[in-house]
Amino acid sequence: MAKDKVLIFDTTLRDGEQVPGCKLNTEQKLTIARRLDELGVDVIEAGFPISSPGDFASVAAISDTVENATVCALSRSVEKDIKVAAEAISNAKRPRIHTGIGTSESHIKYKFKATKEQIIERAVRAVTYAKSFVEDVEFYAEDAGRTDNEFLARVCEKVIKAGATVLNIPDTTGYCLPDEYGAKIKYLKENVRGIEKAILSCHCHNDLGLATANSIAGVINGARQIECTVNGIGERAGNTSLEEVVMILRQHPYLNLETSINTQLLYDTSSLVSESMGMPVQPNKAIVGANAFAHSSGIHQDGVIKNRETYEIIDPNDVGVNESSIVLTARSGRAALAYRAKKIGYELTKLQLDKVYTTFLSFADRKKEIKDDDLHVIVKTSDVGTSIFA
Ligand code: KIV
Ligand code: ZN
Repeated sequence: MAKDKVLIFDTTLRDGEQVPGCKLNTEQKLTIARRLDELGVDVIEAGFPISSPGDFASVAAISDTVENATVCALSRSVEKDIKVAAEAISNAKRPRIHTGIGTSESHIKYKFKATKEQIIERAVRAVTYAKSFVEDVEFYAEDAGRTDNEFLARVCEKVIKAGATVLNIPDTTGYCLPDEYGAKIKYLKENVRGIEKAILSCHCHNDLGLATANSIAGVINGARQIECTVNGIGERAGNTSLEEVVMILRQHPYLNLETSINTQLLYDTSSLVSESMGMPVQPNKAIVGANAFAHSSGIHQDGVIKNRETYEIIDPNDVGVNESSIVLTARSGRAALAYRAKKIGYELTKLQLDKVYTTFLSFADRKKEIKDDDLHVIVKTSDVGTSIFA
C-alpha cells in the first residue's frame, strides 16, 4: 500500500527565531531558507511580516528566492496584519497566509474579552479576507490544546466554509498528553463537516517534553502536516523537532507515513541553524546531538564493534553523520581500546593489549576522555615492543 505523505511545515524562521538571542539577519535567514528548501520541507514559515520592517524584508526576500517550498507568512486575525503578510509573500511561487485567533476559555475571556460567537466571527472574517489575496490559507486556533473539542470543531467547520485549506491545531502551551492530543485530532476528523477539504496540522510545544510524541499521535490519528523547527528550538521549551519527527516516521515504516525530507542533510542543517543562531545543540539531543551516535561504556562498545545495530537504531549515514564513534573513557573495555588503537595504526596482540589496557586505565582515571594523541602516548609507554604497527 502506498504511504500517506505527512507535510513538513518548518517554522524555524518564525517560532524558532522568537527565542531570545536567536535573532537572525536577512542574509542568515536566506541561507537557512535555501537549505530548508534543499532539505525538502514542504512549507517554510518565513516570519511575521507585521512585527517589524526587518521581518517584512526577510519574508519578501525569502519569497523571491525559494524555489520549491510554499512560503508562509504569519498574521493575527487583524486586517492590517493580513494585508502586510500578503504583500510580503506576493512574489512567492507558492504563497500561504497563516492567520488565526485564540480559542481556549482563557484566551477568549482574558486576551480578547469576547464571546465564543465573536471569536468565530473574527476567525471567519480573517480567513475570508486572507482568501482575497491567496488561495492557500492556513487557520490556527491558538491554544487548541486547552480548547474544548466541541467548540474547536465549530470553529474549524466555519473557517473551512470560509475557505481555509489547512487547520492548525496548536498545543500552544505544551500541555496535552499524546493520547489526549491524538484524540483531539480524531474528534475533529470525525465531527467537523467538510474536514475532507482541509489538512489538519499539528503544532506542538515542548513544555512537558511531549512535543514530538504529541505530533506523532496527531499524524497517527489523521493529521497530515507537522509544524516543527530544526533542533526543536522555539518559544520557551521549544517546538517539535523536525529531525525527530522525520526520523520517527522513517524508522517506523508500519505507520505507513512518509515525508519528502532528504534525511542525509539533517546533521548539516542542524549545524547551520545552531551556528547561525548561536544556540548550541545539547550533546544528548536525539538524531543531531554530538553523542547521538557515540558509545562510551565497555558493554555497548563491544556490541557496536561486533554489529552496529546492537545499540543503534539509525545508521548515522542516513542523517549525514559519517560514522558512529567509540569514545574512550575509564568505562571502556579492551574491545574499544583495540578498535581505536587499530584506527590510528596499532595492531595489538592479546598480550600487548593487556599491557596497553593497564596503562590506559591509569590515564583514563585521570582524564575525562582519551583522545588519539593520548592513545599514542599510552601505547608508546606500555612496553609492548615494536611490531605493533598495523
Ligand atoms: O504556538 C502557537 O499557537 C503558535 C501560533 C501562532 C501558530 O505559534
Ligand atoms: Zn507556536
